[in-house]
Amino acid sequence: MNLVDKKELTFALTTPLYYVNDLPHIGSAYTTMAADVVARFQRLVGHSVLLITGTDEHGQKIQRTAESKGLEPQSLCDEMSVGFVKLWQLLNIQYDRFIRTTNDRHEAIVKEFFQRVWESGDIYLGQQQGWYCVSCEEFKEERELLEGHRCPIHTNKEVEWRDEQNYFFRLSKYQSQLEELYKSQPDFIQPESRRNEVKSFVNQGLQDFSISRVNVEWGFPIPVDPKHTIYVWFDALLGYVTALLEPEVEPTLENALAKWWPINLHLIGKDILRFHTVYWPAMLMSADLPLPVRVFVHGFLTKDGQKMGKSLGNTLDPIALIKCYGADAVRYYFLKEIEFGKDGDFNESRFINVLNADLANDLGNLLNRTLNMVKRYCAGNVSQITNEDIPVEHPLKSIGLRLGEQVKNAYEALAFNQACEAVFLLVRACNKFIDEQAPWSLYKQGQQQAVEEVLYAVLESVRLAAYLLSPIIPNISSDIYQQLGFGIDFNDQIRTAISAPFAIHGTWGVLDNQQKLGEPRPIFKRIEPPEKG
Ligand code: MSP
Repeated sequence: MNLVDKKELTFALTTPLYYVNDLPHIGSAYTTMAADVVARFQRLVGHSVLLITGTDEHGQKIQRTAESKGLEPQSLCDEMSVGFVKLWQLLNIQYDRFIRTTNDRHEAIVKEFFQRVWESGDIYLGQQQGWYCVSCEEFKEERELLEGHRCPIHTNKEVEWRDEQNYFFRLSKYQSQLEELYKSQPDFIQPESRRNEVKSFVNQGLQDFSISRVNVEWGFPIPVDPKHTIYVWFDALLGYVTALLEPEVEPTLENALAKWWPINLHLIGKDILRFHTVYWPAMLMSADLPLPVRVFVHGFLTKDGQKMGKSLGNTLDPIALIKCYGADAVRYYFLKEIEFGKDGDFNESRFINVLNADLANDLGNLLNRTLNMVKRYCAGNVSQITNEDIPVEHPLKSIGLRLGEQVKNAYEALAFNQACEAVFLLVRACNKFIDEQAPWSLYKQGQQQAVEEVLYAVLESVRLAAYLLSPIIPNISSDIYQQLGFGIDFNDQIRTAISAPFAIHGTWGVLDNQQKLGEPRPIFKRIEPPEKG
């Protein structure tokens, strides 16, 4: 197999590498949930997937946080990064690599990359003057600032004036190459509104940016001048490369890039757009490396309209939410309720309503009442019916036959809410169908064949719904599959991809008439809204 074929079978994607200035909040969990959904979907369709996440541990923000807590920076990083690992476990995130940027192997990759850029003649010493937001770890233009020299993203933080000697990266040299990239690969930045934002930023003219610091000790030294440390963003972006290294191999760029490069998808929030779509591709161009395929930019989770964040201190505790409602509930709410790419506000009563309506009522009750009817009316088995008995124009089959493709397109476009909506159209059609067909009356009239036909069509539709939702709610989907008599656990992804590939299970008509159905039990317990007062 040549390299191109191999690349077609692999899919590498990343979450941002999270700052360890505090424990993760629901905003940081948001990108990671989405990434896990994409990874799970890609595995179902048969790709070999590498999901990368991790922590960004250098720089002034981390150094200062450690100082304020009376800790060594490394101890702070060790403590906080564990918090991310634990949250990902609770959220059922099946990542393949967790990269920490204080890792020694990462230093080797950063040095080698720096050397390549240095040899391209793209690094020079200059004087940096400007306003710096430590929370963003970014220089800001005077015109971007709020009153009182406050950062527009961290609105309670004042930016700081800097006037110091730094090494610069010659970003300006890549102006036309970047413009050409946005033109020739329109999908490089999505959604389109973000692409336009980047294009207009670049059109204003790019300025070189500084990639070293003189008064920040917490970072890797600049190889050619160790009085300077490497700017945290230059170091952090390369974490995506280090993460690709197989555990046992020597940390060289060649080894890192051998199998999974280029990354197929970077998932990021809108505050780190320029870093990923302007600085990062230019750095790679300078090092003469292929570029990532696609950067998808999501919005902010807000509370009372303001970005939820560690620096603003207005976050929602994901652990409390998961402990109270379960991982699937949290994953479902954020992916179904917020259009990926737009901002979304969290509201607890909406959260409870959505979960009760979709998971407890529409899907959960549907499965439960159908299985109970199979027990009551058909001695536990729809043995007279097969897929072939049901015509393609059947009201549920006709939706089901188109659904797999629709949902696949939605997952590929990262339109998770559309994937959920399409599936729930089928689920709601099932509820309506049962009410209209009234299998209890058909049974009384002795129409056994008709009863079984109704129940088969509904159960098969629930199966398909569970399959298509499995990247988002893997535990509930596994539970449904088990009740339908399949020995499939969607958390065992490798095995599922083999025994229940999308090409087969993603379409209508899989349920077999010899299927031994399981015992009905609720898949999602209705949530009682908290008492007011
Ligand atoms: N360390 C950098 C990323 C380096 S990637 C090489 C960083 N870290 S962060 O912890 O501050 O943010 C990580 C991600 O979380 C960003 O994509 C950011 O947009 C996202 N979010 C942080 N707060 C968020 C919300 N309130 N809502 C949605 N996403 C948010 O930036």
